Amino acid sequence: MHYEKYISDRVLGLQPSGIRRFFDLAAQMADVLSLSVGEPDFDTPLPIIQAGIESLHNKETHYTGNAGRPELREAIAIHLEKLYGVQYDPLKEIFLTVGGSEGLYLAMQALLNPGDEIIIPTPCFVSYQGDAFLSGGTVIEVPCKLENDFDLDPQAVAAAITPKTKAILLGFPCNPTGAVASKETMQEIVRLAEEHDLIILSDEMYDQIVYDGEHVCVPALPGAWDRTVLLGGFSKNYAMTGWRIGYICGPAPLVQKMLAIHQYLIMCVNTTAQDASIQALRIGQEYVREMTEEYQRRRDYIHQRLTAMGLPVSKPRGAFYIFPSIAHTGLTSLEFAEQFLQAEKVAIVPGSAFGEGGEGFLRICYAASMEKITEAMNRMERFLEQLATNKQEE
Ligand SMILES: Cc1ncc(COP(=O)(O)O)c(C=O)c1O
Repeated sequence: MHYEKYISDRVLGLQPSGIRRFFDLAAQMADVLSLSVGEPDFDTPLPIIQAGIESLHNKETHYTGNAGRPELREAIAIHLEKLYGVQYDPLKEIFLTVGGSEGLYLAMQALLNPGDEIIIPTPCFVSYQGDAFLSGGTVIEVPCKLENDFDLDPQAVAAAITPKTKAILLGFPCNPTGAVASKETMQEIVRLAEEHDLIILSDEMYDQIVYDGEHVCVPALPGAWDRTVLLGGFSKNYAMTGWRIGYICGPAPLVQKMLAIHQYLIMCVNTTAQDASIQALRIGQEYVREMTEEYQRRRDYIHQRLTAMGLPVSKPRGAFYIFPSIAHTGLTSLEFAEQFLQAEKVAIVPGSAFGEGGEGFLRICYAASMEKITEAMNRMERFLEQLATNKQEE
């Protein structure tokens, strides 16, 4: 049978990630040291796990309301107000999603018509482009530059705005660059959004994993709240990737439309994860602080090692990724990652996976033990020396 003819036109055009071949290769190899997966190496803190177990013991095995438990939505509202001074009505302006991933999908489905343009700073999280594609929207990439520590350039954003621009997606702290946008930059983007009547989607998945300076919560900025949809979650901050829980906050007329899709698509986020997340907000801050301190120690080490290898690299200020340039080797990022994997059995992600601005870079996730990071850096040093020797011999 020719199955393609059964697939909808919309989905037929959906491109699988360009680095699938790389991951297929890594999966086939034994003893690969992987710094490629974007998740904490820490397990979920025990009291949070225990709250999940207790929820099951109490036979909390049923659906909740579509938006999720009111206690958790209220706890999220209190948490956001405490951290950033931003206010949401937990009943109408917040609901729970299956990770930040579902939130991104819903937001784009609810906001974008075919042909609408959405500005996305790149390098960026891999789902942004796919979600925009599935909604029929057109992605306009605005590259963030190493020279600028991967901060967003408001002038470049202004130049990308057209009469078709509907929204801008901000994702800071950034996966894959570790950039934390400055308050001035974010305020300028809000001003542009006001001037051109744009909606802002702010993906703040790593908001509590910030080392230098402070996280800027976009809807807390003057003029931003009315036009911003905030996407947040538990996956990274609380080491809860497998529980699959996140949230959307924003003005009720927008959020309620996203909830309408969620209602048909998902019904509700799994009940155990909701109960565990209530506990995360109750007792989790100390754990978040400890894990972030440990990421910072690793960040300092890996940054120092990459710098010593002569790679141009920005010191990440948030999340747990570092994004060195390997352009001087003459290899594309995919070639570099494949050859490094073959030669040294270390898996890292080619920067080209993250959009236009990512070619010539590598994403290394340092949410891994110091021992693993040290070994990976030793092997990287050896690989770069070998590349240099080969070049000289040519
Ligand atoms: C920037 C960013 N947003 C959203 C997500 C999705 O998070 P979740 O696992 O909660 O769906 C990720 C996951 O890697 C991410 O890096």
